[in-house]
Amino acid sequence: MTDHIEVTRQGAVQIVRMNRPEKKNAITRAMYAAMAKALTDGGADGAVRCHVILGVPGAFSSGNDIADFMAVAMGGEGGMEVYDFLMALATAQKPVVSGVDGIAVGIGTTINLHCDLTFATPRTEFRTPFVDLGLVPEAGSSLLVPRAAGRQTAFALLGLGERFSAERAREAGLIHAVVAEDALEAETLAAAARVAEKPPEALRIARDLMLGDREELVARIKEEGAHFRARLKSDEARQAFMAFMARKKG
Ligand code: COA
Repeated sequence: MTDHIEVTRQGAVQIVRMNRPEKKNAITRAMYAAMAKALTDGGADGAVRCHVILGVPGAFSSGNDIADFMAVAMGGEGGMEVYDFLMALATAQKPVVSGVDGIAVGIGTTINLHCDLTFATPRTEFRTPFVDLGLVPEAGSSLLVPRAAGRQTAFALLGLGERFSAERAREAGLIHAVVAEDALEAETLAAAARVAEKPPEALRIARDLMLGDREELVARIKEEGAHFRARLKSDEARQAFMAFMARKKG
């Protein structure tokens, strides 16, 4: 397991916090595994009515750990942890609320597409540089972003890798609200507590109706994943990872 994921409870709300500030919450395989387990365990626990996902001040997540990407690019094995996490998130039967402050890159952005309410702050910047890294959109984002925001906004985010402020993300229908940094966690947890107070069965049915058939989403995550794994071994990706590693040393 890992110390970089903290799982706590506040009443009927289960809080999953990414806590690896020294790497801006870059997500490792162990972290995905811990988050998948938390979502699955919380999903099965009758005392939990809502999940919350948080990062640390200034960093929700800088995305997948690039050293892990590099390991695959060099011929290593990638593991199933990220897939297990995405499946647990995309098929969660209980509402998920997220609070995002600061850096939200790659999966640090796409996690929120699976949340029922996302709160972000004025200094938050959403960015999905998949194509710049020689990769393709993941986590169902190629389906969810065009659906929520339209094709051209999706292209700007996922194709061009444009940075989206919290306000732009809110206008595009990708997040729920923008709140001050010092109010983020309180607002996020208060919203989750309101969710947890609703009649759970009525809320589950209402949410299922809004989400619709999730088979298409699951199929898209798998389709993206097949391309993503192949792209990790491409020259385009290898060069991009090496450039990031070199920048680190410089
Ligand atoms: N994977 C691995 N390590 C990462 C990381 C990632 N995704 N993002 C940041 N880090 C590490 C940095 O290498 C650095 O480590 P070091 O102190 O050992 O050198 C540390 O986290 C702090 O990052 P730093 O780049 O110094 O912070 P910053 O505030 O200047 O920039 C980012 C933050 C997120 C903008 C920048 O680190 C970045 O672009 N990261 C890569 C994001 C990315 O492409 N993710 C994959 C998306 S698919």
